[in-house]
Amino acid sequence: MSIKRNDIIEVTVDSLSFGGSGFTRYNNIAIFIDKALPGQKLRIKLFKKYKNYFKAGIVEIIKESPYFLNPKCLHFNDCGGCSFQNLEYGQQLKQKGNQVKDTLSHIGNLKSLKIKPIIEAKEHFKYRNKMEFTFSSNQWFEKHNPKEKKKLCLGLHPKGRWDKTIDLESCEIQSDIANKIMTITRDVALKNKLVPYDIKKHTGFLRQLVIRSADYNNETMVIIVTSKNDEKKLRPIIEELSKIKEIKSIINNVNSRKADVSYSNERYLLHGEDFITEKIGNYKFKISSDSFFQTNSKQTKKLYDIIKKEADLKGKEIIYDLYCGTGTIGIYLSKKAKKVYGFEIISSAVDDAIINADNNNIKNTLFFQGDIKDVLIENQEIKTIEKPDISIVDPPRSGLHPKALKNILKLDQKKIIYISCNPSTQARDLKEIMNYGYKIKNIQPIDMFPHTPHIESVVTLAK
Ligand SMILES: C[S@@+](CC[C@H](N)C(=O)[O-])C[C@H]1O[C@@H](n2cnc3c(N)ncnc32)[C@H](O)[C@@H]1O
Repeated sequence: MSIKRNDIIEVTVDSLSFGGSGFTRYNNIAIFIDKALPGQKLRIKLFKKYKNYFKAGIVEIIKESPYFLNPKCLHFNDCGGCSFQNLEYGQQLKQKGNQVKDTLSHIGNLKSLKIKPIIEAKEHFKYRNKMEFTFSSNQWFEKHNPKEKKKLCLGLHPKGRWDKTIDLESCEIQSDIANKIMTITRDVALKNKLVPYDIKKHTGFLRQLVIRSADYNNETMVIIVTSKNDEKKLRPIIEELSKIKEIKSIINNVNSRKADVSYSNERYLLHGEDFITEKIGNYKFKISSDSFFQTNSKQTKKLYDIIKKEADLKGKEIIYDLYCGTGTIGIYLSKKAKKVYGFEIISSAVDDAIINADNNNIKNTLFFQGDIKDVLIENQEIKTIEKPDISIVDPPRSGLHPKALKNILKLDQKKIIYISCNPSTQARDLKEIMNYGYKIKNIQPIDMFPHTPHIESVVTLAK
């Protein structure tokens, strides 16, 4: 029987696809089902047809998944944040491990590869060290949790609705302190009649609240993003927040542009210092308001230990830490390497990398600012430095730009350790790297983000 758009059919969900939808086949046609869990027997409606597959939504759960759990979060049904809180953690891990395998095989055409079992996270809640919330007057009303319409709400967007904001009572994957900060900020903003920014009309004042924290010394940084510089208006919030002893830094980022982003070049320090410090293994790292830092500090130690093991350093190696952020991986490896060169596009991150090396008394690192696709061949100084024995490659989700990939391959290193938070772009790039004589030696997925569809994986290639 063939199927078409708007049909209602019965299926049992096979697995979770990369990105988080449930997956099944019906008469050999692939179907991706929003919010479905493996093992559920469902009545579904096919709401959109694509060339080789359908997208569908749940009409009725005929039989619940054996892996179903009651989600802890009050906002689970509406929030676009962590979509697997209703799935047993063991099953989340199994599905993520399978997704790495399937993605490498389908996109990278890398079949019959041995993939190590995914490394689990011991803490499934309160693990995120950075959350970004939106101020808005365009409130999303949750069916199960009716609230009065507020002049200002603060929280996350419902899935696919960037114009709306859920007024969050709490977020289960951030710390208790971060929840307290969110509540106080909203209450004081409401009491003082501060106006949230309207992303359609481009009016209003308060845009985002970013909370960053570090396990080491329990330090927290609060970044309040506003549309203009008006410290007087922020004073009541600063006064209340600065009573919280864990808050080491309050910063005001001013973003007067239309783009709905929290980073900015116009920045004011309103309380304390302009950074917090995290410790990974034996090394301390400075985290500034706009610089990248892995968002799960406990798992970061495990991630960096995998890289260290795969690098298998003997003390004579030259390492290139490409896409180095604040230099964390290179610094973590530096004691056992001859020299580490780091490369990064954001200049403030490079500044932090230099300070981080200095603070950790590391003398064998050198950091360069630039875009990897250009800097390796265009920068005169870089042309003269030693070529690497090992390159650590940790690009953003989009993976390697074709020019960057070409230039990395020209370095002719014996080993490449490729870390990725997006198995599909990683699979695409691995396929290309292997065309140049590299073989995959190890694939190690690690769960950095419980309850979310995100997967991190470390792949080692050698000649
Ligand atoms: C996934 S993060 C990795 C950071 C670091 N390795 C760590 O573990 O904290 C990717 C980094 O690549 C940087 N980046 C993005 N595009 C880049 C480019 N074209 N050239 C150089 N660096 C880039 C980002 O600023 C970010 O710091």
